[in-house]
Amino acid sequence: MPDSSPVTVFGPCTLSNLGPGYDALGLCITGPGDRVTARRTDAPGVTAEGPPSLPTDAERNTAARAAAHVLRQAGAEGGLRLRIEKGIPMGSGVGGSAASAVAGAVAANEVLGRPFRKPDLVEAVLEGERAAGGYHGDNVLPALLGGLVLVSPSDPTAYRRLTLPAPPPLAVVLPDVEVLTRDARAVLPATVAHGDASAQAAELAFLVRALLEGDWPAVGRHLMRDRLAEPFRAPLVPVYDAVRQAALDAGAAGVALSGSGPALVALVPDADAEAVVEAMAAASRAGGVEATGWVARVDPQGARVVDSELA
Ligand code: HSE
Repeated sequence: MPDSSPVTVFGPCTLSNLGPGYDALGLCITGPGDRVTARRTDAPGVTAEGPPSLPTDAERNTAARAAAHVLRQAGAEGGLRLRIEKGIPMGSGVGGSAASAVAGAVAANEVLGRPFRKPDLVEAVLEGERAAGGYHGDNVLPALLGGLVLVSPSDPTAYRRLTLPAPPPLAVVLPDVEVLTRDARAVLPATVAHGDASAQAAELAFLVRALLEGDWPAVGRHLMRDRLAEPFRAPLVPVYDAVRQAALDAGAAGVALSGSGPALVALVPDADAEAVVEAMAAASRAGGVEATGWVARVDPQGARVVDSELA
């Protein structure tokens, strides 16, 4: 039997942590994404091809690992061939490894005849994320399901999708330095002071409440009160202070690192979001680091089929 007709799936970018929500909060946004095209093969196993910087084996490639999980879960015969197109720069902080994992799982599900619904793919996408060195759900779950997701860091199969009332635009800027999640997790202290842990728990609770109420000034304030990750990671982004200050000076309500950085995200309920992006990118360039950025909106849909020749 020749390889089956291809299906292409778009995996969107995501913002994670959102200040005090380390490994617990993630948001799917509009902007760049990765694409994975899958075909069924007679040969067993999953093979992947993509840009030369990507590992292609099913152990270390997030899309292949997630797709292999779906294949096992379905008990399907034969294998899969994947082609990965990276739209999200590696190590940029907007969920590139997660976007590929999610696109891989959804594409595998499609070519297998869609045996599963999206919520049934949660374990597969978490397994895919493992290939990038972590087992956290704050990128893969919003990339799969869309919107804002609250997820348990100790058991990322436990999650809730939260509905945001009329979210404002977000200014997202990627300073051109690579920060690998593995390295950014390694700089975090193994233990934290009791006072920091209790303050963090309260900040996250206030942040979630403000998000659900659409109280954007409060979201902005709580976004900037992380104690467990951002203070330790800021030194990995040489222009962090300048970009953050530029966002606030241009009228943003709050600004935080996205994930392990270097991406920074600013919430812009009451100012010109394009001007905030420009100010943040200009501050990065003034500090000697090229930067790109865009005005993002919440993407409520998550991963989706963008091309299919299947009937
Ligand atoms: N929550 C993860 C971290 C996201 O901050 O390490 C990594 O993209």
